[in-house]
Amino acid sequence: MTDKIIIFDTTLRDGEQSPGYSMNTAEKMYLASQLEKLRVDVLEAGFPSSSEGDFEAVQMIAKKIRSVEIAALARTFKEDINAAWGAIKEAANPRIHIFIATSDIHLQHKLKMDRNQVINKAVEAVKYAKQFTNNIEFSAEDGSRTDRDFLSRIFEAAILAGATIVNLPDTVGYAIPVEFAELIAYVKDHTPNIGKVILSVHCHNDLGLATANTLAGVNAGAQQVEVTVNGIGERAGNTSLEELVMALHTRKDYLPYFTTINTKEIYPSSHLLAMITGIPLQPNKAIVGSNAFAHEAGIHQDGVLKNKTTYEIMEPATIGLETNHLIIGKHSGRHAFGDRLQTLGYDLSESDIDHLFKRFKELADKRKEIVNEDLEVLVAEEILRVPDTFKLKYLNVISGTATVPTATVQLEIGGNIEQKAGFGIGPIDATFNTIAKMAGTESKLLRFSIDSLTGGTDAQGNVTVRLEEEGVQTLGKGTDPDIIVASAKAYINGLNRLAHLKQKASSQNNKRGCGFLH
Ligand code: KIV
Ligand code: ZN
Repeated sequence: MTDKIIIFDTTLRDGEQSPGYSMNTAEKMYLASQLEKLRVDVLEAGFPSSSEGDFEAVQMIAKKIRSVEIAALARTFKEDINAAWGAIKEAANPRIHIFIATSDIHLQHKLKMDRNQVINKAVEAVKYAKQFTNNIEFSAEDGSRTDRDFLSRIFEAAILAGATIVNLPDTVGYAIPVEFAELIAYVKDHTPNIGKVILSVHCHNDLGLATANTLAGVNAGAQQVEVTVNGIGERAGNTSLEELVMALHTRKDYLPYFTTINTKEIYPSSHLLAMITGIPLQPNKAIVGSNAFAHEAGIHQDGVLKNKTTYEIMEPATIGLETNHLIIGKHSGRHAFGDRLQTLGYDLSESDIDHLFKRFKELADKRKEIVNEDLEVLVAEEILRVPDTFKLKYLNVISGTATVPTATVQLEIGGNIEQKAGFGIGPIDATFNTIAKMAGTESKLLRFSIDSLTGGTDAQGNVTVRLEEEGVQTLGKGTDPDIIVASAKAYINGLNRLAHLKQKASSQNNKRGCGFLH
């Protein structure tokens, strides 16, 4: 007999709280819909007490995503639990997730409490949450560095108080698989009533062992695993959803468990997250990296041509990776275009498709072939965009070996067309300096990266910028076959996002004290 493993996705909470992965509400909503298609069992949508923005995003997700359990994180404070419940109360199946640290290191240096005080806080919080729902998860933060007997005691107390799921995190990614499995086994043996609740594990990847530790936890009896798409999360990240799911899928012989994840949505989910955040995956990332199914060495290619199983342990199609990349061009009609978007997993309204089709035609006029990546960028740019405070109307750049790089820029600002010229040490610097002057921005450019979507000199340049102003950070993205135009678009997109965020910022608190707003 095989056991189902519950997939608890925390991409929008543990993942989103890590530097660089901040998302706005529309982006979170978009990703949440994709996670629903992926069929995760539980979606941790955020930490509602951390900011008004987080509260709103969790609330919106809870209202719209109906087929997945929606969890919200809370510390043991009543205000946190009230906020968590306030945000998820309209979910079809809400879960309050309460945590408190349990290791001596955290008790002594962070909480300044003794063990009995921590148990009392946990019990009080679970009992308080019980008035709202019976679906309560309790997490012992830094569980893997907690005294085993104390861990069992606090789990016992949380279960008696009404927790229905207990979660054992390796918060700092310190555990070694055999040791983690022993800890799970110990807790199972020494915690009264643990058989009546779900036992969960939540691992971080500081030593690159998150997936191994999670699998060890599953083998030792954990029924729920907490994971993120692409393994994003605090510091080195969390257990990667795709690695965990595909390990269980591929090694059923050794791991007699199953998930109800729709594996064909793994690649689209991974891609969508990278697209939304503008942070590309390392090429050798297991399962979803661009090299994960590429065979370069002649001896490997020869083997794969003779029989795929020589060097391939998974079929790319299982994770929804289309090997046929070449798709449509300028003669393709709206119908083929709409079909392709649907195949890529985008459920768009007719008016969104109409709008995108116009952009597609403009792009197809410049390039012979449009590949899936181009379409994904179009979707990300068009559908996830914020209102245009600044709009690029015209750009002319002069650069070369014997001239001072000069940019002439025309922007539409509040309905007026304005034009300016400026210099820089290179064409992109000249463009950014000129745009910055026109927009009157004080923002700092924290990151600038340029990447081509496909091979070839006619590939689209894909530019990502990260901007910061008054403690607010945002990404900007732009694509164009001309990399200077792509850079200008990315910068303007970043400035538009910044303007949008600043408008909302007055009603938001600084997120988790680290200055990220969304
Ligand atoms: O890593 C951790 O301990 C957490 C808890 C809040 C579950 O993210
Ligand atoms: Zn965590």
